[in-house]
Amino acid sequence: MEQLVIEGGHSLKGVIRISGAKNAALPALAATLLAGGEFEIRNLPELRDIRTFLSLLEGLGVTNSPEAQEPGKGRRVVLNTISISNHEAAYDLVRTMRASVLILGPLLARTGAARISLPGGCAIGARPIDFHLKGLEHMGARLTLKAGYVEAKASRLTGAEIYFDVPSVTGTENLMMAASLARGKTTLKNAAREPEVAALGQMLQAMGARIQGLGSSVIEIEGVKELKPVSWDIIPDRIETGTYLMAAGAAGGELRLQNACPEYLEAVIAKLREIGLEIESKGQELWVRRKRRLKSADVTTLPYPGFPTDLQAQFMLLMAISEGLSVITETIFENRFMHVPELNRLGADIRVDGRSAIVRGVKELTAAPVMATDLRASACLVLAGLAAKGKTTISRIYHLDRGYEHMEKKLAGAGARIQRIRAEMPY
Ligand code: EPZ
Repeated sequence: MEQLVIEGGHSLKGVIRISGAKNAALPALAATLLAGGEFEIRNLPELRDIRTFLSLLEGLGVTNSPEAQEPGKGRRVVLNTISISNHEAAYDLVRTMRASVLILGPLLARTGAARISLPGGCAIGARPIDFHLKGLEHMGARLTLKAGYVEAKASRLTGAEIYFDVPSVTGTENLMMAASLARGKTTLKNAAREPEVAALGQMLQAMGARIQGLGSSVIEIEGVKELKPVSWDIIPDRIETGTYLMAAGAAGGELRLQNACPEYLEAVIAKLREIGLEIESKGQELWVRRKRRLKSADVTTLPYPGFPTDLQAQFMLLMAISEGLSVITETIFENRFMHVPELNRLGADIRVDGRSAIVRGVKELTAAPVMATDLRASACLVLAGLAAKGKTTISRIYHLDRGYEHMEKKLAGAGARIQRIRAEMPY
């Protein structure tokens, strides 16, 4: 079992290159199912979830070339989707990666059939996929639920008007992909506006899809009969970028972040400046510095362009060591405060009250062994280790490896005392 050991109290100084976005790469890989031929996907991050998705595609009959590392860029993969020989995503894959649901729309639109395991719940909430299923039914798919699997059939989907009760990122992505090959026009209302959704729409347009309204909450798709393969670059990861901005807030010092996208982080940068971080942006670069103790501020997570739920845990760490009291309200997921008991083990003073956490800033955290529970909570614990006095050990870091490419190497390169060790578990 691997662990991270972090010796806190050392400020950061250095340059970190931001990787391609996991949550843009997964839908882009799913979109390759929509057309037969050779796709080239570039700037892929080297993550467990990407490898899992590539093996999911291989199970459907997609062949992929060995990923070549492009100097200074992310990984590149060539996928050949000419023949789809299987229509099923098995439980053991979907259970480990909910984003597997993204093959449902494209597989159904391309082949007329799909069978995927209903994803179970996960650490941060029930995370149902009812919007995905209702939308496909609205487009004429016949769905049956059997033994934990949803089986979908449709000779050809037809366009429909679909309204999301709440904006859903992968729900919007799944239905946008399905609608690209449907007969007639689909309108998605109250659609998600995340940059990853817009980036997927731009890839579909490059493939020949006819889509209007990307980035807004009303997306219109005029179905076409056929799409073509493309070469496509994955956009930078705004959540990784926000995490490293906050790492400078946790450890002190300064960082230069290359290959970032400041325009995706307006709400986050505004909030970080409000609490006292100095942040400058120039083109694809961001510079951040913390000189003095941070002030506290309240945050409520919202769909884009609001403050992202995927940076809530990391921000809470900053509030745990700031001056004053902060109320952090999580409106997207019902159980995304699993990092609170772990932070309190390090000496934080946080109390959860329903959907809000009340954080009373303390002067200093003290190192202790802690356990990661989900992807973004593990990032929060790494930042806590940078801030805490002494050596913090984090176990179950496989959660971290799902969404952060070589995090300990990137931080060590900027002066953090952090290393990955293989620990023999006592049991
Ligand atoms: C995407 O998850 C991201 N994952 C998540 O990132 C992110 O936290 C989330 O969007 C919110 O921004 C990927 O893009 C692969 P939603 P997704 O559908 O699409 C409810 C990370 O750490 N809902 O936008 O699954 C849902 O329960 C991950 O990288 C339904 O009720 O989230 C939630 O309350 C974690 N029915 C809300 O909508 C549905 O059919 C928003 O969820 C779908 C969603």
